[in-house]
Amino acid sequence: MSWRVELDKGWHNSAWAVTIVFAVGSWIGRVGPRPAGGQSSLSSSRERLETVRQVLAEVPLIDGHNDLPWNIRNFVHNQLAEFEFDTDLRQVVPWSKSAWSQTDLLRLRQGMVGGQFWAAYVPCESQHLNAVQLTLEQVDLIKRLIEKYSQHMQFAASSREILEAHGNGRIASLIGVEGGHSLGSSLAVLRTLYQLGVRYLTLTHTCNTPWAKSSSVEQGDGESGGGLTHFGRSVVREMNRLGMLIDLSHTARATMRDALGVSKAPLIFSHSSAFAICNSTRNVPDDILKQLAANGGLVMVTFYNYFVKCGPQATVSDVAEHIYYVRNLIGVDHIGVGGDFDGINKTPRGLEDVSRYPELFAELLRSGKWNVLDLKKVAGLNLLRVLRKVESVRDDMRTAGVMPAEEFLDSPDTTGSCALDINAVQRVMEV
Ligand SMILES: *[C@@H]1O[C@H](CO)[C@@H](O)[C@H](O)[C@H]1NC(C)=O
Repeated sequence: MSWRVELDKGWHNSAWAVTIVFAVGSWIGRVGPRPAGGQSSLSSSRERLETVRQVLAEVPLIDGHNDLPWNIRNFVHNQLAEFEFDTDLRQVVPWSKSAWSQTDLLRLRQGMVGGQFWAAYVPCESQHLNAVQLTLEQVDLIKRLIEKYSQHMQFAASSREILEAHGNGRIASLIGVEGGHSLGSSLAVLRTLYQLGVRYLTLTHTCNTPWAKSSSVEQGDGESGGGLTHFGRSVVREMNRLGMLIDLSHTARATMRDALGVSKAPLIFSHSSAFAICNSTRNVPDDILKQLAANGGLVMVTFYNYFVKCGPQATVSDVAEHIYYVRNLIGVDHIGVGGDFDGINKTPRGLEDVSRYPELFAELLRSGKWNVLDLKKVAGLNLLRVLRKVESVRDDMRTAGVMPAEEFLDSPDTTGSCALDINAVQRVMEV
């Protein structure tokens, strides 16, 4: 669709103040290049995009997972002085040369992203080594990024703050820690991360932790025993008490089941799709989806071609198929989006980068079975509902006087050869 390409070009050349973002719907109608032919179908596709833009102006589009912070570490070693987020990174080396780069402020605005969970991800190979320090550095990086671009981004740590940021025309920026290895098997570290503003923890990445099993150890339909240990269940309960979202993407099915069984609050998958359509262990099987819905939770459908189509090629329609499937199975109240941009190197045609979200919502409208309220739910209302519930469970537990858990785990993080034997030090000091 060449008119669309021209539109994009015109957009990049124009100033991109928020007012223009909100004005773009009518702008398309007035001065946008005319389609060459097929006026009626193209004009209705234009109408759909206009409807989507109105929806996303009213309700923040909240994406569950973006790995930009890790790329900033990889590419510029967290030197934000060398990072210009408000330029077109498709023109800047090394971003322009990387298949893993799909995010900059220009394109986030163009895609009308209203809220983003930024991943404080560190590779789980750092488990039992410097995972906790690296995670703190990524949390610091995300906060500095928000501060540097405070005209466009606003830190958010609650459902209310997401709406405030959106009302200010800024991208509500939340922090999610991707992997339980970042806790160093310590509930004290979990609590400290919460105090720093972290609002979800993915229970595992691709490594098992001493207390939770990862999906990467699963093969075929094979069930692989217990998911969460006793300590793992304490992590989930402590997250309920703190008011932190529990993210089950990357976990083994047994972990999903155990967490769903323990948690008093709804859970999320921040970036996973439907296993019934593509049988990757990163996707969610039907029985888990049903349990997720029964708990009031949310699957934020992800865009990586290998999770959408189980292969290197996919399209925006294929992503929509996952959304239709989940809707048919558990209803529209349990769907969100978690693109995983900047964490993937193969994106669907039509969803190449963060500027493309409106195309996905327009695709849902095209089916003829989606109304404006449905779109709002998938864009952000569902996530806001889940977060509000997590916050109210926290408040209830506080009212009930539930105290911080003091359970600890003897793990390589606290007992390994690199760990300081703190009890021995105390004995020396007493002498
Ligand atoms: C997915 O399906 C293929 C083909 O039936 C099978 O070989 C593979 O083991 C399955 N993978 C999983 C994770 O179920």
